[in-house]
Amino acid sequence: MKKQLIAGNWKMNGSLQSNAALVAALAAGAGSAQCLVAVCVPAPYLAQVQLLVAGTRIDLGAQDVSQHESGAFTGEMSAGMLREFATRYCLVGHSERRQYHGETDALVATKAQRALAAGITPIVCVGETLAERDAGRTEEVVKRQLAAVIHTNGHCISEIVVAYEPVWAIGTGKTASPEEAQQVHAVLRAQLQAATAHADRVHILYGGSMNAANAAQLLSQPDIDGGLVGGASLKPADFLSIIAAAR
Ligand code: PGA
Repeated sequence: MKKQLIAGNWKMNGSLQSNAALVAALAAGAGSAQCLVAVCVPAPYLAQVQLLVAGTRIDLGAQDVSQHESGAFTGEMSAGMLREFATRYCLVGHSERRQYHGETDALVATKAQRALAAGITPIVCVGETLAERDAGRTEEVVKRQLAAVIHTNGHCISEIVVAYEPVWAIGTGKTASPEEAQQVHAVLRAQLQAATAHADRVHILYGGSMNAANAAQLLSQPDIDGGLVGGASLKPADFLSIIAAAR
């Protein structure tokens, strides 16, 4: 069975000083972890955190990548640049990017393709808003978001990580129940199975107010292969408890 993956999403938080303290605490506590561990850090800190995680169990991740390879795209970061800092993972299509930066399904799919081409595993985020859930559209929305990535990436699709993050659960303290989350994960797994013979290899993470208290139950569901953790990933004790609950 594959190891679960617990990835922290620091979002726009941190400083040189606090990053050093956080990673030192995680590295000390994660030595005996059963699962894979990653931290997705703000771009200016990639070089710093690359050094901090070297020789530890922790892999480095970024939070976004350009859909372009290089050129006149002021402010953007290419997958090749991220790779130079030993970036192993990159979030793409986080709901905050979709919501505040107008990222479309097609754009997210191209970003995933750029990451894969550079040898970086894209963590493709999908999830419905509260209005979509209330309208009974959860499955339709997540399937549409994942379909774009499958369409663009073809047989490479078994190389991605998927993160199901119900938008209404992000940073709100509201979590999908383990059963609600498992139901959506099963839908995503079936969609991957229709696209690749290696769908079982794909990690499907749950994200949205995962914390020390609810992680074990979520992580015991058959199609939940790990977590994408925002707020709790900034608190070493909480993040380490989630890591300890993973297998
Ligand atoms: P949260 O964020 O754990 O703070 O809800 C998760 C995410 O947005 O990746």
